[in-house]
Amino acid sequence: MHRKLAAGNWKMNGLGASLAELETLGGMHATSGIEVLICPPAPLLSRAADAVAGSAVTIGAQDCHAARSGAHTGDVSAEMLKDAGVTSVILGHSERRQDHGETDAQVRAKAEAAIAEGLLAIICVGESLEDREAGRTLDVVGAQIDGSVPDHGTAHDLVIAYEPIWAIGTGKVPTLEQIEEVHGFLRNRLSTRFGAETASGIRLLYGGSVKPGNAADIFAVSNVDGALVGGASLKSADFSPIIAALESA
Ligand code: 13P
Repeated sequence: MHRKLAAGNWKMNGLGASLAELETLGGMHATSGIEVLICPPAPLLSRAADAVAGSAVTIGAQDCHAARSGAHTGDVSAEMLKDAGVTSVILGHSERRQDHGETDAQVRAKAEAAIAEGLLAIICVGESLEDREAGRTLDVVGAQIDGSVPDHGTAHDLVIAYEPIWAIGTGKVPTLEQIEEVHGFLRNRLSTRFGAETASGIRLLYGGSVKPGNAADIFAVSNVDGALVGGASLKSADFSPIIAALESA
């Protein structure tokens, strides 16, 4: 079983001055029994990797292109991320699916490219409020998993993050029963596709308004192997207690 994972997604937040937060976080978590990952915006990646060097914190990106190189103005390849010192990449976040019209097929192609470079692909799925209220949650996340996850995924290179869109940045969190239902469903879906042994090792993160105050309850839910944290990952004072909650879960 891989170590639990506390991942922070800074989204489009952070300037050079924010690197001090990373140095502080690295200082607070020189070693850890879990994996700790921060995903800053692309211009900070290489300096962020330097800022956490020698600590338990590693650095991830928030997207990559499916191609290795070429005429794709403004895009960044998985090989470039690797070269910048990152270990992981978030793919198919709902904000990218919404803002850039990313499809499951595109997310899958990006994940294949990331895995081919030796990066950990963190693939996001999650339903809208409309889907939830219409009783379509499991259909939606099931289809996203089927379409976005590459065929040759292993527990070593794949993580799934369940992020209900209506819980992102809203302060609204699903009930623990709702989280348990979706995570159990995802585990089964992966098991059908990859076999029980591989599926049991693929970490399932919950994301959406995770805060120091609710993290321990969420981490006690079965099939929750960590969190993907937005707003509360920006400050070490908020993210550190979430790391501590996962360490003692
Ligand atoms: P918040 O923790 O700010 O709700 O964001 C969650 C998220 O989208 C992480 O990827």
